[in-house]
Amino acid sequence: MKLSIIILAAGQGTRMRSSLPKVLHPLAGRPLLHHVLETAEQLNPETIYVVYGHGGEHVCDSVQAKNIQMVAQMQQLGTGHAVDQVMPSIPDDHQVLVLYGDVPLTRMETLQAMTTEAGQNLSLLTVMLDDPSGYGRIVRNQQQQVQAIVEQKDADTQTLKIKEANTGMLRAPAQQLRQWLQQLENNNAQQEYYLTDIIAMAVADGCDINTLQPQQIEEVQGVNNRQQLAELERFYQYQQAEQLMLAGVTLLDPARFDLRGQVKTGLDVSIDINVVLEGQVTLGDRVQIGANSVIKNAVIGDDVIILPNCVIEDAVIENQCQIGPFSRIRPDTHLAAQVKVGNFVEIKKSQVASGSKISHLSYIGDTEMGKDVNIGAGTITCNYDGANKYKTIIGDRAFIGSDTQLVAPVTVGAGATIGAGSTITHDAPAETLSLSRSPQKFREGWQRPVKKK
Ligand code: UD1
Ligand code: CA
Repeated sequence: MKLSIIILAAGQGTRMRSSLPKVLHPLAGRPLLHHVLETAEQLNPETIYVVYGHGGEHVCDSVQAKNIQMVAQMQQLGTGHAVDQVMPSIPDDHQVLVLYGDVPLTRMETLQAMTTEAGQNLSLLTVMLDDPSGYGRIVRNQQQQVQAIVEQKDADTQTLKIKEANTGMLRAPAQQLRQWLQQLENNNAQQEYYLTDIIAMAVADGCDINTLQPQQIEEVQGVNNRQQLAELERFYQYQQAEQLMLAGVTLLDPARFDLRGQVKTGLDVSIDINVVLEGQVTLGDRVQIGANSVIKNAVIGDDVIILPNCVIEDAVIENQCQIGPFSRIRPDTHLAAQVKVGNFVEIKKSQVASGSKISHLSYIGDTEMGKDVNIGAGTITCNYDGANKYKTIIGDRAFIGSDTQLVAPVTVGAGATIGAGSTITHDAPAETLSLSRSPQKFREGWQRPVKKK
């Protein structure tokens, strides 16, 4: 069976009240449309077509893959008209699966069930709803065979009582679909060319209509406003949290954990509340992540402890490091094993060798730091002269006194000691004390001011 998938994404999305096209609003950090595309790809179709509307350049820009074709629908004349825009590209011997760019969470297995045993028949994904208002209704005969879909706005009171709703997703053989679409008319309440009208035509042609139901209702829920977007986000996040817990990760509160990307986890990882993981994150065995931390595109080694309120991005943190609370690890940082980074420390584009400590209130940028270095509180690498960035090199076992400025480019030798409060503008020799500090003065008889009466 050869499969073509059509994803409808031309709707305005007015109720989002946004300048961003609806299908580009993110769910778990990725556009809604990308969720649908990823699921569609898993079905190994020959081609995926995305039908986009006016102002769809952003939609086109967001999609780049060789088997995805963008098809413009200049006027939104209805779902049937939208599908028809693609039919000239689809060969007769294909099966056509219609999906929606704003229905992000349909499972691959559900769609696969619609395409297996595909032949001259048609598959419809339907759902039983307590309140089906707004949806097209599935009309069946005495033998429970599907006869037609009737849109809410065209339905009589008897039809409105039907609880079985059309999700919009269907699969049909291309050759017949093409013929049915050509016969569509728009003499209905919305004056649209309804895709749903092909069902009655198929029945008249003696075509079997199979219906399938999703496992969970969220699979077929669309996003029309930001409230529905948030509902699906929560559903999705909870599913991810459940998977992680079943894989052996402790989540102190699965309702307060967000994953916007992929995470690989070792044994006995523990994640406190309000942690956000983004992009590609790897967490080694026994990693502990404190509350309110954001970790993006990072590799975290075994036994690393991240205390609360840390932000880590594009970094590698090796085994047994301790980070935080309140640390910021910026891109291109590599911390070797057993490094300790304490509160209010920012590290950018730096390599820190094993056992070094940067415990309090420091900025370390563009730095190569050796092993077992101790960086005193308030130490700053002055890496930027307003135009260019320069490197600081600190040798093994160096001891940098508190409140030191290392004015780059500068090298501190192995085992060097820098006296507290120094401004180091020349290389500091190995195993030597360097200090630049104005001598202390004393004023005999000086009186501390007293408050005026
Ligand atoms: C449609 C179905 C309805 C079903 C419901 C499920 C039709 C006629 N009705 O109704 O039976 O219960 O979905 O949500 O199909 N679109 C285009 N071009 C168009 C029109 C629509 O790309 O010209 C896209 C929209 O972006 C949207 C989707 O198709 O993603 C559905 O369109 P919409 O107008 O919302 O259909 P409904 O009235 O909800
Ligand atoms: Ca809709």
